[in-house]
Amino acid sequence: MSDATRRFRHAVVTGGAGFVGSHLCTALLDQGTAVTCVDDFCTSTPENVAHLTGHPDFTLVRADVTQPFEVGRRADLVLHFASPASPADYLRLPLHTLETGSLGTRNVLALARRHGARCVLASTSEAYGDPQQHPQSEGYWGNVNPVGPRSVYDEAKRFAEALTTAEGQVHGTDTGIVRLFNTYGPRMRGHDGRAVPTFIRQALAGDPLTVTGDGQQTRSIAYVDDTVRGILAMAASDLSGPVNIGNPTEITMLELARKIIQLTGSRSTVRFIERPTDDPAVRCPDITLARGKLQWEPVVPPDEGLTRTIDWYRARAAA
Ligand SMILES: NC(=O)c1ccc[n+]([C@@H]2O[C@H](COP(=O)([O-])OP(=O)(O)OC[C@H]3O[C@@H](n4cnc5c(N)ncnc54)[C@H](O)[C@@H]3O)[C@@H](O)[C@H]2O)c1
Repeated sequence: MSDATRRFRHAVVTGGAGFVGSHLCTALLDQGTAVTCVDDFCTSTPENVAHLTGHPDFTLVRADVTQPFEVGRRADLVLHFASPASPADYLRLPLHTLETGSLGTRNVLALARRHGARCVLASTSEAYGDPQQHPQSEGYWGNVNPVGPRSVYDEAKRFAEALTTAEGQVHGTDTGIVRLFNTYGPRMRGHDGRAVPTFIRQALAGDPLTVTGDGQQTRSIAYVDDTVRGILAMAASDLSGPVNIGNPTEITMLELARKIIQLTGSRSTVRFIERPTDDPAVRCPDITLARGKLQWEPVVPPDEGLTRTIDWYRARAAA
């Protein structure tokens, strides 16, 4: 069960300068938890946490978690979010992605063990690959091509899940696994290759929105505030997981492109381009477990989350 009143004194967030990680660091500080953010900036910049650097309880450490590392004071929570996550990034950094999921996870689990901390791994819906069960529940084992281009990410996360589970069994470390589905919001990089920032960037520039294939493939997209709330509920629980965290509202890529054109008031058109290898046809979480055990479900409607995200890109462009 989740204990909403459970609070941590000091959390280590690996990948804390990334998109999701930076929102996690902010939310933890807001609830009174000191944060050490550990990041090698391979897919981010310190700008994502610039708003936190003056905070007395925030420490930023530049380190690559594939090498053993230590933090200055005792931690009671470790959130392992370090990993290239967008296809553009993990295809550019295939070995680093595999090493971060394997060696990095080993080092992060060892840190949690030394500190007696709860350790939550950010896994992914990509663990289900191109799924043959729909929607995907945690009991589904997935359909992953182990040597396809996406395998460096999918298999790294699947290995990280296995390692995290074994760590709990062998050493008694308090571990948890969240399987995050597509999340969007402010601080995603416009060129990171994921659908929402790509479409918003193209719509704001008046360029055609590039939809892959016939655009009928579906995703479920969760606003980052909802995802962060789900992760923190998992952290506060004693569940080992995996637990799906995602928005069960499914949308086709073509519908998403049209919605972003409408919300931005853009005159952009849609252009269909080739679909990437092993791109999943459907993606939708079954969140029965999160609803029942964490009392969590997404609450931000897509139009609201997308509008907040569009506003952020607009403000940034104007700055
Ligand atoms: N955003 C999503 O929709 C989504 C969905 C499923 C899972 N996830 C998971 O959530 C986590 C964060 O994803 P994101 O979207 O914020 O990606 P991101 O690329 O914005 O953030 C990842 C962060 O990890 C850092 N990093 C990568 N390898 C590292 C290493 N070896 N040592 C230290 N730092 C390292 C990067 O520099 C970056 O700051 C990832 O583990 C990802 O797999 C995200």
